[in-house]
Amino acid sequence: MLVKNAKIRGGNGVCDILVKDAKIAEIGTDLKAEEGQTVIDAAGAMVLPPYVDSHCHLDYVATYGDPEYNMTGTLFDGIRIWGERKKSITKDDVKTRAKHVLKWEIAHGTQFVRTHVNSDEPGLISMQAMLEVKEEMKDFIDLQIVAFPQQGLLNFKGAFELLEEAAKMGVDALGAIPHYEDTREDSVQSLIRMFDLAEKYDKLVDVHCDETDDEQSRSVEVVANQAWKRGLGPRVTASHTTAMSSYNNAYAFKLMSLLQRSGINFVSNPTINIHLQGRYDNYPKRRGVTRIPELLQAGCNVSMGCDDIMDPFYPMGAGNMLDVLNMGVHVCHLTGYDQLMSSLDMITNNGAVTLGKHDVYGLQAGKPANFNIIPAKNEYDLIRRLVKPTLCIRAGKVLARRHPDAAEVFNGTDYDTVDYTV
Ligand code: FE2
Repeated sequence: MLVKNAKIRGGNGVCDILVKDAKIAEIGTDLKAEEGQTVIDAAGAMVLPPYVDSHCHLDYVATYGDPEYNMTGTLFDGIRIWGERKKSITKDDVKTRAKHVLKWEIAHGTQFVRTHVNSDEPGLISMQAMLEVKEEMKDFIDLQIVAFPQQGLLNFKGAFELLEEAAKMGVDALGAIPHYEDTREDSVQSLIRMFDLAEKYDKLVDVHCDETDDEQSRSVEVVANQAWKRGLGPRVTASHTTAMSSYNNAYAFKLMSLLQRSGINFVSNPTINIHLQGRYDNYPKRRGVTRIPELLQAGCNVSMGCDDIMDPFYPMGAGNMLDVLNMGVHVCHLTGYDQLMSSLDMITNNGAVTLGKHDVYGLQAGKPANFNIIPAKNEYDLIRRLVKPTLCIRAGKVLARRHPDAAEVFNGTDYDTVDYTV
């Protein structure tokens, strides 16, 4: 395959991308196709590496309204309804829903997903299902699986045994939910024991960390400190960290130097946390999204995830990382021109770093030919108009395609196609 007239980030003008044997062979100008090769004219469209969804719960997806709708929108009703729904979980049920929604993600340009999967089910049915989905979908999408002890590690009898079983089954990462444990002491213990297990089985770590408005919830300092002491750095991720936006500035300032030194990753889920947090506030209501601008300023790696897609915890979502980014830049005031231009990193390169996939990610010769062709002028134009990819390429083949939207407005005699660009 040869892609002509592509605009790549940071480049001047347009270039060509030559693909051979499923890899990018060369990026340059006036490249020639070999005989029989497909030639695609990008016509000045942006060519970007695929989006990365760094945090999703594929075992919950597409269950909204089953067995009942969440009428309050609160986390507690979400937990209650999920408690009912999971009684009828089967392997086929999980696989069918996960594969269905993964097609939404693929169509929107995502080719890397880190999914958290509940590890608190006796028999680990969802875990078995997702490991099968990972294998069966590997030609379409890279899945990474985190064992997620949703009901806590010390709160829930047998949780550590189930987590260890998941580790042996071949998950990629282990998780914890320290803010959900009964006491501060238990939350610290849950993390130390989970880190021990992760080291024993050589797994990555991704913690649901301080997903609350409680300014006293300070598990992130323990996660960062453990990562630093153990020398695990970027193998560790703190997801959510919403309490950070409620910390006093004196503590947040001190914390930031530890976070920076630890080298851990951060994942924010703005669509979910703007929906779930601030529920106990009167006015003014907190936004409940972590301190993304400050983390970025400190040089920390921050990426984003869909988290929930049509489940008891969140009614919305179509597996589109641009929706997530759009919410994030608004909620976090990342709307300066330079901030908008660079914000795309949080659903591309930074996500690849979080997943530890940077060696197989990006538009460089020698890397897998995975990329999206998106008819936008630049990053700002892409985010403003939320432009979807017209072609998604994986291993040098067309994985997904779409016709660009075209609306027409009556001009008095005929209909003009609307041009949203300026
Ligand atoms: Fe989550």
